[in-house]
Amino acid sequence: MHKIAVLPGDGTGPEVIREGLKVLEAVSEKAGFKYETTEFDFGGERYKKTGEVLPDSALEDFKKFDAIYLGAVGHPDVKPGILEKGLLLKLRFALEQYINLRPVKLYPGVWTPIKDKGPEEIDFVVVRENNEGLYVGEGEFIKKGTPDEVAVQVSRNTRRGVERCLRYAFEYTRKRNKRKQLTLCGKTNVLTYAFDLWERAFNEIAEEYKDIKTDYTHVDATCMWMVKNPEWFDVIVTDNMFGDIITDLGAMIQGGMGIAAGGNLNPEGVSMFEPIGGSAPKYTGKNVINPLAAICAGGMMLEVLGEGKAADMVEKSVMKVTARMKSMSAGKMGFSTSEVGDLVVKNL
Ligand code: IPM
Ligand code: MN
Repeated sequence: MHKIAVLPGDGTGPEVIREGLKVLEAVSEKAGFKYETTEFDFGGERYKKTGEVLPDSALEDFKKFDAIYLGAVGHPDVKPGILEKGLLLKLRFALEQYINLRPVKLYPGVWTPIKDKGPEEIDFVVVRENNEGLYVGEGEFIKKGTPDEVAVQVSRNTRRGVERCLRYAFEYTRKRNKRKQLTLCGKTNVLTYAFDLWERAFNEIAEEYKDIKTDYTHVDATCMWMVKNPEWFDVIVTDNMFGDIITDLGAMIQGGMGIAAGGNLNPEGVSMFEPIGGSAPKYTGKNVINPLAAICAGGMMLEVLGEGKAADMVEKSVMKVTARMKSMSAGKMGFSTSEVGDLVVKNL
């Protein structure tokens, strides 16, 4: 019995999670596994009512689950940063979800802005470090508000943190069994502390993985190649900030935020799965948002829960549905949010 914590969150989060749960229920019957869900109402609305974002007691609750299924975080009436830091980043850090796994895969029939590239060429995965770097929130203001102001923001990279991320990436590349090529994305020519550590650790660990081809690209060049020759990539591993940036670019070349899913993984603990697109408040309640990112995140969750067959069924069904949709964008799909969910269920 898999115990799943459901956190629909803000904006369109609840609408897309509803479709994800619909698919989960249908696939559980077909693949024959059992699960139970417990819903939590953390997010912007609750914060406005109670002033509470995520109490420490809730963190302890989440540790008792096998996985967390998250909709979206971000509310138009809440100052940016409060929910992002207090909820999403707090969960990622407190549950030590040190990997953010983001597949960039173009499904059949999905429009990509890259001319002459199709599903054959756009199929790679970004392994983003998820607990360190600039996201630790370390820094200071000096002489704040004066003309001499200085703002310092620290990127913290520990050998332990970098190494566990790299080791995960090597193992993942081996298992993915596509081209067995792992690319380190960094900025060794400028960030000569942080990426010196990353590069040394990468090269040392590579010695243990002789079956995996390795290479290195600077982050700016990575952006260029992702657009020009996306087929060059199999798995990319990078730090938290660069991973954040290049996976938005990745989402665009795979058809947009409506289809991009991700997993915040603690391979030894509780992982959390989410559509990476955010809460899209202007579409709330209109039944027009694309639920496929949330459905795909649910598929990733099944994989990690050990339900590989069910995960496969979900992905194959999604691929049939994308082939019939007019667009991945909200309001232009040719179907409503709930109709897309129904179609995925039907094609399982
Ligand atoms: C993401 C988001 C978050 C991040 C924000 C909401 C804090 O952009 O999941 O990529 O920067 O990691
Ligand atoms: Mn992001």
